[in-house]
Amino acid sequence: MDISEYILPTPWDSKVFGFDTFEIVSKSEEIFNSVFKVLQPGHYTVKVNPLFSKKILHEYGFYYCDTLIEPYCNRNSFVEYVKAGIQISKLVSIDDLIKISHGAFIHGRFHKDFNLDRNLADLRYDLWLKEIYNSQNVFGLMSDGQIAGFWGCVENKIVLHALSEEYRGRGMAKYFWSAACQEVFSQKYQELTSSISASNISVLNLYSSLGFKFRNPVDVYHILVK
Ligand SMILES: CC(C)(COP(=O)(O)OP(=O)(O)OC[C@H]1O[C@@H](n2cnc3c(N)ncnc32)[C@H](O)[C@@H]1OP(=O)(O)O)[C@@H](O)C(=O)NCCC(=O)NCCS
Repeated sequence: MDISEYILPTPWDSKVFGFDTFEIVSKSEEIFNSVFKVLQPGHYTVKVNPLFSKKILHEYGFYYCDTLIEPYCNRNSFVEYVKAGIQISKLVSIDDLIKISHGAFIHGRFHKDFNLDRNLADLRYDLWLKEIYNSQNVFGLMSDGQIAGFWGCVENKIVLHALSEEYRGRGMAKYFWSAACQEVFSQKYQELTSSISASNISVLNLYSSLGFKFRNPVDVYHILVK
């Protein structure tokens, strides 16, 4: 067995955290057993179906970090909310977006990993935002012409999204998300998807009010091998 095909490097995370990082991809306990025995120093992620037995992960010292779920919605099920003054715009500066992004993603698995520096976890999301901004995949979420948040979307997958702190917790998100989702549906796409932490209750309720349903849960485990 060539175990390297199950250990995929994640160089974008290595660059941020300063050590080698990988995702181990398999659904088989037998393959996990072979791979886990020979792990070299570095940080490793495993994503498994929640019903998969975690015994082998615990035996090798992996620890739980998060459960991810996939919101999805098709054009016909989408529930639209409209409010005057709420718009999207591509004419936004990356510096303004980073101010909103920095420190916003506390529900991410990197923030929940006690072995990782939270400042570097913040930096990881800032760099990811810069990357999708540079590839023209980010909208600004605007309220009366002021930047209130951002929405990153690659094709029909919503990848990174946040409201600025002053707009959060006011029941406003559904209006911004409506404008952004409608933009994607107005292109060729029939379905929109995302990936969220099941513990992020405000984003879960947000997607629920917009008519999204949820599928493909995965439990995420990490290990830092020194
Ligand atoms: C996720 C985010 C955009 C949601 O925006 P928000 O302004 O906080 O959310 P809202 O106040 O509009 O609330 C959204 C829904 O969740 C509900 N809700 C909000 N906070 C809640 C809480 N703590 N518990 C339960 N329900 C909650 C609200 O009732 C609302 O539903 P409604 O509009 O039907 O009443 C915002 O919190 C944010 O930017 N967070 C940081 C970045 C982030 O987590 N992004 C998502 C990563 S996947």
